[in-house]
Amino acid sequence: SAQAPTQPRRVENLHTDKGKVPVYATGIVEQHWDGYSAEDHATWATLFARQRELLVGRASTEFLRAQDAMGMTPDRIPKYDDLNQVLEPATGWRLIGVEGLLPELDFFEHLANRRFPVTWWIRRPEQIDYIEEPDLFHDLFGHVPLLMNPVFADYMAAYGRGGVKAHAIGTDALQNLTRLYWYTVEFGLIREAEGLRIYGSGIVSSSGESVHALESPAPNRIGFDLERIMRTRYRIDTYQKTYFVIDSFEQLMAATDPDFTPIYARLSEQDSIPAGTVLESDTVHHRGTGEGWSTDGDV
Ligand code: PHE
Ligand code: FE
Repeated sequence: SAQAPTQPRRVENLHTDKGKVPVYATGIVEQHWDGYSAEDHATWATLFARQRELLVGRASTEFLRAQDAMGMTPDRIPKYDDLNQVLEPATGWRLIGVEGLLPELDFFEHLANRRFPVTWWIRRPEQIDYIEEPDLFHDLFGHVPLLMNPVFADYMAAYGRGGVKAHAIGTDALQNLTRLYWYTVEFGLIREAEGLRIYGSGIVSSSGESVHALESPAPNRIGFDLERIMRTRYRIDTYQKTYFVIDSFEQLMAATDPDFTPIYARLSEQDSIPAGTVLESDTVHHRGTGEGWSTDGDV
């Protein structure tokens, strides 16, 4: 169910310095592709070329294959409409432009209906290496390619439906679900025949973390465990202390298929786990040295 808002209604724009376009009540904006400057396209080109070089041999084969299949290239910022021509027939997903982070329920409802919100603006040149909030590069380069993969595409839609449900249950359930998103969609690793590879968008869109996540001795790399992940706090302002490793997207899909309602009830009785803790019950691929970790700031 596509929904172009019939009544363009301006809403309060949190990012006033970027607020060049009208924001509809649903949070949807036009991409305004013609409005990108030469500098914007150059920022995309620089980031794209740098990450692709880093990611060969580091990103999951499926990520790289999917990105090629979509036709994303470094020469210019892709048009959502062009990508949609490829994406929609493949898995039924469609990209929509947004100004930035959406209210949780709106976000879940978009995902449940296979609409992926992509921030329309791209970071400024001085933010090339780090930006606190998701921009076009993170969303498009990082999140969108795997939507071409049928299993991952289904996972994201199931997550959206799960989000709508968790939202109705309450804040603790939402927190549990958010941790799952963080440690899979944003910061997930996958085990392939040649070794560990990255599939999380937060990693693939970051040059520093692309290397850190796989090669640094500092972080833990632990086998995927649903309830363990849903109890684990995470980092928003530093590299992760722990990454969780799946064996396949099918494993992720199967593990998250059960109704979470009883799981949320069970987890509400248990304490959260600090971001860097290794448990007796963990399947440890690598035990982190903890080098460079800050002692506080887990969320
Ligand atoms: N099975 C989950 C539930 O019942 C929904 C979900 C699916 C959540 C996939 C995350 C990922 O709530
Ligand atoms: Fe993201």
